[in-house]
Amino acid sequence: MMETLFAELKRYVGFGPDDEQALRRLHGIVSPDFVPIAEIFYDRILTHAGARKALEGGESVVGRLKVTLVAWMDKLLSGPWDEEYFDLRCRIGRMHVRIKLPQHYMFGAMNVLRQQLELRVDDHYDAHPDDLRAARLALGKIIDLELAIMLHTYREDLLAQQSRTERLATFGQLVGSLGHELRNPLGVIESSLFILKGRMGADERYDKHVTRVGEQLDIANKIITDLLDMIRDKQLVRERLSVAKVVEAAIARVSRPEGIELEVRGLENFPEIQGDSGQLQQVFVNLLENAIQATAPKGVVAAIGSRIGTLIEIAITDTGHGVDVDTRQRLFEPLVTTKAKGVGLGLALVKRIVDRHGGHVRYEPNQPNGARFIVRLGTAG
Ligand code: HEM
Repeated sequence: MMETLFAELKRYVGFGPDDEQALRRLHGIVSPDFVPIAEIFYDRILTHAGARKALEGGESVVGRLKVTLVAWMDKLLSGPWDEEYFDLRCRIGRMHVRIKLPQHYMFGAMNVLRQQLELRVDDHYDAHPDDLRAARLALGKIIDLELAIMLHTYREDLLAQQSRTERLATFGQLVGSLGHELRNPLGVIESSLFILKGRMGADERYDKHVTRVGEQLDIANKIITDLLDMIRDKQLVRERLSVAKVVEAAIARVSRPEGIELEVRGLENFPEIQGDSGQLQQVFVNLLENAIQATAPKGVVAAIGSRIGTLIEIAITDTGHGVDVDTRQRLFEPLVTTKAKGVGLGLALVKRIVDRHGGHVRYEPNQPNGARFIVRLGTAG
């Protein structure tokens, strides 16, 4: 069997049964101080502006994290230091990657923990140099293994980002040429279809198939247009416009099964904005189509307007299954889709258009269930 990364790392630093024993002994000595150590750890974060920034939820997050840090120290010194331990630590590492915690704070924070633990080791084993040496050695090894695991999760993320960038570069080139190449045959099909449509009316089956070809042609053309819009920056045609009207026009463009209830509220008396009405309509068409597909066959889709100072927000909500945590981070990237049949361009295009309007789009889980996409835009002033 292949040696795992954790086994290799333990072999590298020489982490063995003696270390395990020394750490377990240390656990009995240090555990009464876990809470004060966790307090020092988070106080230090709070006094550093850069590190503090990572605690988005502010002080309330700290309370929760103090408890989890105590559990972390408990496991650090009691083990077992097996593959499950490695997986658990990787999950914690990925949380830090997700909140974009700069790696240097990881080292700073680990150093604080190391200092606090070592101080207690030194005090306790003052008169027992052999035990002191064993405890310090074991502690040094496990703390550095922890750092190695944390760095491993940052590397994992970097590699994933690299492959995404490469994928996108290839995607751009491929799309440009494929899109243009496909326009020609589709144009020929379209003009032949025009002739065939002239003969409709005599045979029901003939009519049905001609209509179906027409519909599929529209879908194919829409995919190509979206693809080409993604890679070239379509100029914005800015004008003063009413968001309520843009949303209304988008609603008229999407089809909705009977079981889906559509609510529109908070958009009346909305201030005007400066924007490209066609492109903004596309934003809401894409969001509404996604919401309807996610909710079908039955549920509620809503377009809800609200004002935040000089900004406006339009939330498109649904009562579907929502988006899982892993997909959320990459939701607005091209080629990322949760649909069995989707190409993964709709949300990327939404983001591109909203960004170009100087706005912002984000995802939040809807309460009690479903998805909520919030488009924030500036008013015309
Ligand atoms: C190097 C030492 C660190 C250790 C051992 C550590 C430990 C942990 C643990 C165990 C969790 C998981 C909590 C859970 O299960 O919900 C966690 C999450 C978190 N940590 Fe750390 N942490 C360290 C450094 C930091 C630093 C320096 C910051 C900020 C400056 C930070 C901010 C956070 C935040 C915000 C979360 C919550 C993430 C989320 O719930 O989405 N951590 N950390």
